Amino acid sequence: MLTEKGNVMIRVGLMGYGKAGQAVAEVLRADPRYELCWVARRTANASQACVPGTDIPLMGLDSVVFSDWLDTHPVDALVDFSQPDAVRLYGEEVRKRHLMLVSAISAYNEDDLEYIRSLGNDARVLCSPNITLGINFLILAAKLLRTIAPFADIEILEQHFREKTEISGTARKIAESLSIDGERITSLRLGGIVGHHEVIFGFPFQTVRLIHDSIRREAFGTGAAFALDQLRHCDNGFYTFDDLLMQKVRDQLIEA
Ligand SMILES: NC(=O)c1ccc[n+]([C@@H]2O[C@H](COP(=O)([O-])OP(=O)(O)OC[C@H]3O[C@@H](n4cnc5c(N)ncnc54)[C@H](OP(=O)(O)O)[C@@H]3O)[C@@H](O)[C@H]2O)c1
Repeated sequence: MLTEKGNVMIRVGLMGYGKAGQAVAEVLRADPRYELCWVARRTANASQACVPGTDIPLMGLDSVVFSDWLDTHPVDALVDFSQPDAVRLYGEEVRKRHLMLVSAISAYNEDDLEYIRSLGNDARVLCSPNITLGINFLILAAKLLRTIAPFADIEILEQHFREKTEISGTARKIAESLSIDGERITSLRLGGIVGHHEVIFGFPFQTVRLIHDSIRREAFGTGAAFALDQLRHCDNGFYTFDDLLMQKVRDQLIEA
């Protein structure tokens, strides 16, 4: 099938239909570049065979042989918002069928990561523990500003809902990517804030603040859709979100 712009629509299978997966399914379904062909969860739910309000199959991996499922329900890409162990189930199909893979799983161990990197020998693979476009752009912009102004003071402020006990992993990732100490992170816990990250650059005569606010989980879907669109122009390989964003920035600079 073709999109309105004459490009071939990418057929997508989504792994995971939990809090994130449900939001991602909505975004992919509404995006004319993609055809969401099916959604997989761990366990079939007899009363919910389709994504609500659609005829898109919602199947349980406990009730199918996955390679047979792919034979009858072919896709060009998998998007994974399930759990770390799922990659062992679909990985060899990604390799054999040269499927694009966007994995958003945040908690892979080193063995899993090594395995996923190996899939990049035969397929286009993106793996990102933080898949929101906004946070990845904030990190890119902050790294650039740090290079331009290495003398500026930098502090990171993160704000989240009252119940979140630990320091935000995203804030730690920002600190790491700027090579600054984790002690420079200030955490505030207030009411129901979904997620606020702020990088403050203190110059002698001016202050620059880079701010990202999370609003809804659909932002994960926007990131996955961006990653798929960038991957379609890539060679086989293992990519981070940063790689894809940089590629986009380079393309824009060349066009400008
Ligand atoms: N990179 C990012 O920015 C980002 C953002 C958000 C979430 N995530 C990641 O996305 C994942 C899901 O998060 P969530 O909050 O949506 O979790 P969740 O609500 O617990 O949902 C997990 C979903 O995955 C399914 N599942 C579990 N194991 C599976 C397997 N082996 N194969 C296929 N499906 C399986 C579950 O099936 P059932 O419905 O049958 O239980 C459920 O639908 C987590 O790994 C999280 O780290 C990443």
